[in-house]
Amino acid sequence: MSSDVCCSSLNVESAVRERYSAAAHQAEAALCCPVSYDRKFLEIIPPEILERDYGCGDPSKHVRAGETVLDLGSGGGKICFIAAQVVGATGRVIGVDCNDEMLNLAREYQAVVGDRLGFHNVDFRKGKIQDLKLDLERFEKVLAENPVRSSSDWLRAEEQANSLRASAPLIADNSIDVVVSNCVLNLVRSEDRRQLFAELLRVLKPGGRAVISDIVSSDDVPLELRADAKLWSGCISGAFREDRFLAAFESAGFHGVEILERQSEPWTTIGPLEFRSLTVRAFKPQPTATSDFRHAVVYRGPWKSVTTDFRQELARGERIDVRDAEFAMLAQTPYRDQLVLLPNANVEVGEAPSGSLFVSLGLAPDTGGCCSPGSKCC
Ligand SMILES: C[S@@+](CC[C@H](N)C(=O)[O-])C[C@H]1O[C@@H](n2cnc3c(N)ncnc32)[C@H](O)[C@@H]1O
Repeated sequence: MSSDVCCSSLNVESAVRERYSAAAHQAEAALCCPVSYDRKFLEIIPPEILERDYGCGDPSKHVRAGETVLDLGSGGGKICFIAAQVVGATGRVIGVDCNDEMLNLAREYQAVVGDRLGFHNVDFRKGKIQDLKLDLERFEKVLAENPVRSSSDWLRAEEQANSLRASAPLIADNSIDVVVSNCVLNLVRSEDRRQLFAELLRVLKPGGRAVISDIVSSDDVPLELRADAKLWSGCISGAFREDRFLAAFESAGFHGVEILERQSEPWTTIGPLEFRSLTVRAFKPQPTATSDFRHAVVYRGPWKSVTTDFRQELARGERIDVRDAEFAMLAQTPYRDQLVLLPNANVEVGEAPSGSLFVSLGLAPDTGGCCSPGSKCC
């Protein structure tokens, strides 16, 4: 049995809920993976929040002024309060968590931080990060008015949840510049992970990016460890295998997937298994434009050739003709430095004639990868 299929004996969601409800009240050292944040952003954050730091990286380093940021599994709100300072008064930050105690903790200090900052640009919302359409606080109101006492009530509640997802989504489609998360994705049930990555892609604006810090494992985590509630809720046994973490972004349709930071020494080990923090960035594609192959790029090297996320090989030194949207994408991070950019190289030629040397990089994600429907890789 693949280690990606988790053990039905463990109720992951209640193990995680109980652990973090307690950790919201009392700082828990075992959940801390040392991270060095930029100290200037910590000054206005109350000690009660800094003490309950359960992160393993600092994705807020990759946020820019004016952006709309979504923090998945915001906990006490530390990353949101740092990001609030970086994005400034013209940006905004939304923290999502499903744990009442954590939300209470973050909301308790939200006004204090905003007052110290001189503007209020953060809000915390209750939801599951694998279901960012359902606003759990709105749903709670519906349930209070329509208590569930029978299976028919339950079926009606499901319909009401679906109607809320459609009419008032917690996070709207294409609304976020950058999704960040700090040590949370590993806590999500294996069977929900495909939907989790699909949700990241849904909420991002075209061209937006995800910057995720999480714990990864050096090899498959054996089933007996994955059935251990304490290890799972402690961000250990739900860790993605390192290569699969990157593959999960790719399979969901992201491109430009890149390791930004990788802890050199493991955070913890169990037998031969190493668990460490990884920060990954990945981009949501822009829609494909149907324009001429006006521009060109040349791959600089140093590799003899590289393969794009759209399965096209770029040979070192070879000129590849591209369309407007592809050129715009390649002219930005993370591709720009790898390529010689030749804007308007083909103004004379216009549209690629059939059978010519013109090549499209293609922006449509490949759906035939390891996470195609029915596979169990993420
Ligand atoms: C390890 S803590 C990290 C908290 C915070 N990101 C930080 O850096 O301190 C994990 C947080 O994710 C929340 N969480 C876990 N699974 C979740 C899910 N499926 N949906 C929403 N929040 C979740 C927990 O309630 C907890 O607050």
